[in-house]
Amino acid sequence: MNDRTPLIAGNWKMHKTSPEAVETASELVKLVADTTDVDIMIAPVFTALKPVSEVVRNSRVGLGAQNLYWEKEGAFTGEISADMLVSAGCQYVIIGHSERRQFFGETDQTVNKRIRAAIDAKLIPVFCVGESESERDADQTFSVLDKQVKKGLEGYRADELGTLVIAYEPVWAIGTGKTATREQAQEAHQFIRSLVDSAFGTDLANAVRILYGGSVKPDNVAQLMQMPDIDGALVGGASLNAESFSRIVKFK
Ligand code: PGA
Repeated sequence: MNDRTPLIAGNWKMHKTSPEAVETASELVKLVADTTDVDIMIAPVFTALKPVSEVVRNSRVGLGAQNLYWEKEGAFTGEISADMLVSAGCQYVIIGHSERRQFFGETDQTVNKRIRAAIDAKLIPVFCVGESESERDADQTFSVLDKQVKKGLEGYRADELGTLVIAYEPVWAIGTGKTATREQAQEAHQFIRSLVDSAFGTDLANAVRILYGGSVKPDNVAQLMQMPDIDGALVGGASLNAESFSRIVKFK
């Protein structure tokens, strides 16, 4: 047993207008009101953050954004800073999601800068890593994770990373219905924890929460959560519906 509080996080991606987001969040707040010993987060689109923050205030549900830019302000059309997210009510921010890496030019270096901006603003970074299908087939899973974790966290001190959350999301399992087996996930999580241990020491390695993401559903979450190094889930599709997401939150 460890004393890490599980975190169940919902990544709504580019779904839901503000009224739709408010409706789902209101439903969720009611459905999870009686939960304990689990942290809950939802990440709506930027335009829905403020209205959703009003719905989740003083509830069991935390608020996250799906990305940020590392500069504080300036001529960066279309970008949004950490302080702006805080002022919209966020406590968390997802960084380096594979869709950002795949479609929007995110690299290990830009991930590293975004994590810095999040930490400076006291946002909890949910730092995503994971191999593609071809990398797994070529037996490169561990080397890919090694590179992503080391470069993403290069230049940090352990005492800066106290709130860090890492999400292991094998790209081949995202939105495909193909979940990693719990053994595959456990093996990757254990490896990621060992990387944190060698870079930052055992205290941080024991404290860091490592979420699994990739086709998590109400009917597979419990078996994943039984594994010793799986501390929660980053959920896409199944987080869009309050009822199904609440069943994931109540995995026990
Ligand atoms: P999925 O997405 O649950 O729809 O596979 C997970 C994610 O991309 O965070």
